[in-house]
Amino acid sequence: MMNCKRNICQLLFAMLLASPMTVTGATIDNNKKEDVPVADNGFRAGKGTFLLNGKPFVVKAAELHYPRIPRQYWEHRIKMCKALGMNTICLYVFWNIHEPQMDSFDFNGQNDVAAFCRLAKKNGMYVIVRPGPYVCAEWEMGGLPWWLLKKKDIQLRELDPFFMQRVERFEKEVAKQLSTLTVQHGGPIIMVQVENEYGSYGENKPYISQIRDMLRKSWGDVTLFQCDWNSNFEKNGLDDLVWTMNFGTGANIDNQFRRLRELRPDAPLMCSEFWSGWFDKWGARHETRPAKDMVEGIDEMLSKGISFSLYMTHGGTSFGHWAGANSPGFAPDVTSYDYDAPINEYGQPTEKFWLLRKTLQKYSTAKLPALPKAPMPVVDIPQLKLHYAAPLSAATDTMAWSREPLTFEEMNLGWGSMIYDKELPEIKESSMLTINGHDFVQVFIDNKFVGKIDRVKNERTLVLPPTEKGQMLTLIVEGMGRINFGRAIKDYKGLLGDVTLRVDRGDILTWTLKDWRMRAVPDDYASAKKAMDKAAGKLQAADQTPEGIGYYRATFKLRKVGDTFLNMEKWGKGQVYVNGHALGRFWAIGPQQTLYCPGCWLKKGENEIVVLDVVGTKTPVVWGQTKPELDKLQLEKTNKHNNIGDKPDLNSATPVAVGTMAAGNGWQSVKLDKPATGRYLALQCLDTQDGRPLSIAEIYLRDGNGERLGRDQWQVKYANSENEMGNHTGDKAFDLQESTYWQTEESAEMPHLLVIDLGKDMTVSALDYLPRMEQGAPGSLGRYRIFIY
Ligand code: GLA
Repeated sequence: MMNCKRNICQLLFAMLLASPMTVTGATIDNNKKEDVPVADNGFRAGKGTFLLNGKPFVVKAAELHYPRIPRQYWEHRIKMCKALGMNTICLYVFWNIHEPQMDSFDFNGQNDVAAFCRLAKKNGMYVIVRPGPYVCAEWEMGGLPWWLLKKKDIQLRELDPFFMQRVERFEKEVAKQLSTLTVQHGGPIIMVQVENEYGSYGENKPYISQIRDMLRKSWGDVTLFQCDWNSNFEKNGLDDLVWTMNFGTGANIDNQFRRLRELRPDAPLMCSEFWSGWFDKWGARHETRPAKDMVEGIDEMLSKGISFSLYMTHGGTSFGHWAGANSPGFAPDVTSYDYDAPINEYGQPTEKFWLLRKTLQKYSTAKLPALPKAPMPVVDIPQLKLHYAAPLSAATDTMAWSREPLTFEEMNLGWGSMIYDKELPEIKESSMLTINGHDFVQVFIDNKFVGKIDRVKNERTLVLPPTEKGQMLTLIVEGMGRINFGRAIKDYKGLLGDVTLRVDRGDILTWTLKDWRMRAVPDDYASAKKAMDKAAGKLQAADQTPEGIGYYRATFKLRKVGDTFLNMEKWGKGQVYVNGHALGRFWAIGPQQTLYCPGCWLKKGENEIVVLDVVGTKTPVVWGQTKPELDKLQLEKTNKHNNIGDKPDLNSATPVAVGTMAAGNGWQSVKLDKPATGRYLALQCLDTQDGRPLSIAEIYLRDGNGERLGRDQWQVKYANSENEMGNHTGDKAFDLQESTYWQTEESAEMPHLLVIDLGKDMTVSALDYLPRMEQGAPGSLGRYRIFIY
């Protein structure tokens, strides 16, 4: 079937090769055979502009991710980008979908990135390829395969021989698929990216140089480029690569390119990621960015001949277990990657789309094509009741016993849950259970739920009731996406390190729990099916825990097939499979409450839905609605940090620095007269430069040697005010993202105060501060007082 489809595709492609197509500003000559190099010099950086076949070319790229779009919809989304006025598609290649197990590669079906590029070409679009190896992208482990972690001492994204050997192998495979599709060979690919934003990971030109050399060797003569932020691109910028900048809607564009212009006055300029919106994390409001600001930014860039890629133009969905997690801290991303992009998660145009199309039309000599017809209608599905079909443990894939608790990786489990069992000692009083559990841990004694330990909330402990010898402690540990940003990408899942019970009897008594039984439960449909088949007809009432953890199933009949949004509000936390397709994670806390179910995965007649709920539900019902719900939080408590008990009394404290910041964009540093040591930083703001609510994009502290201190353990202890509606909570001041910021509410009174718990005593010699990146740095700090205590 697949081969037959491919033949039809090839036939269509061959027919299309017959006629040349025009894309805004340039021509793709389709008469050229892909494997015959053409005489011109392809795509290059010329003086002040890019050159395509010798002619000036402004890149108007739309970022799309092929795994985030069902293959059946690829062409529709590409056509939408074309109708928007774009001339290029920009894509990442996601290593972990292509090499699910070491040395076994998959470039078929949904993973056929070459077919995606050919579709782009068929529709008159060029392509920019970003093959990593690391891609970030709010994708599990930033695109790196989890099995790399089986080598415990691996240094990811470094000159670690094993890592580099694996990267080389992968990059060769990618090049096998794509290198004959460059413009030099008559294909659509104009540029290839080397690594991704390495500046926010480290400084390592030898590593970047090796990645460049690998790509050069496997791709041949193609233009290679690097992308980074204006504040850090010099750290890793290689002289022979094109440099591009990443920044978001609202940014001060001249400021973003100032340093690049100084260093390379003749270089063409490109914003390789202009963020149209932003991604969402579990437990925080849905992110949006104003359409007007986005369009004005693009208008300004085009009026100055600056190329861009709009990240995302269509975000799509991180189906299954592919959503990653952000750091510092642990902030897993939701399933929807709508991104508040011009083309929404289900492929429809938004207000941003229409506004942008109007602007892009100004820069196009030809009339922009009409929008393609949507491949599917949007339909609703009446409420269905699912029945309990199997307990979680029925899907156990592997069981093991070991003295120490093992991680997922040690148990050869990529994604899913692990059930850890251990007999308890007798402890007559309440004890404190302490674990390092990645990520969502539920604790049971003799199958009775005691409580949860949630990594998102930085929890490590739970009070246990008195226990009797032989009672069974069970920890169900669900892994969420591996961290995709910053140094924390080496993100093991399961129980990490010792599990202890502590009692304070004057002296502290500690039991370190040894000898565990572990059961691995992969979170794929095959495991769900296995569990349900095993349990079929044999389910006893006792198999269903009071919480209702496990697999639920229903079948339903459809007369009309279409895209729909499955409402999961009544459920706890888990995964959904429709006709065997993994739709992604749900979690009652929100903000996402519906899961996008593409119509192409449904069928007329009977369909099957399976829900794996690791928390459980008392109301196992689902319905399909015609609009997504991406912004409904159901939190136990607010995300604000304004508990008055956490506010320090600074009246009698002595500040370590007092002064006034300069107005305007860009980093500033305050050097302390002498280093100060303490666990807490309190930054007090007495006024802002423009009288607007205070906004701070980033804060760093420097140690006694002037080096920036790590922020992995930082937490907000207190903030007098946080604009929670806009997700501008205090932690945004140290989230390693220069485009997000802490902002106080309009109504909040001065002085403002942010107190950060540094995790442990630190010696501080200076504070670095970055205001918002928008023109004029709105709400930037005026007079300040800094305390370390
Ligand atoms: C950076 C990365 C992208 C993505 C965006 C945020 O620019 O390069 O992969 O993570 O941030 O969406």
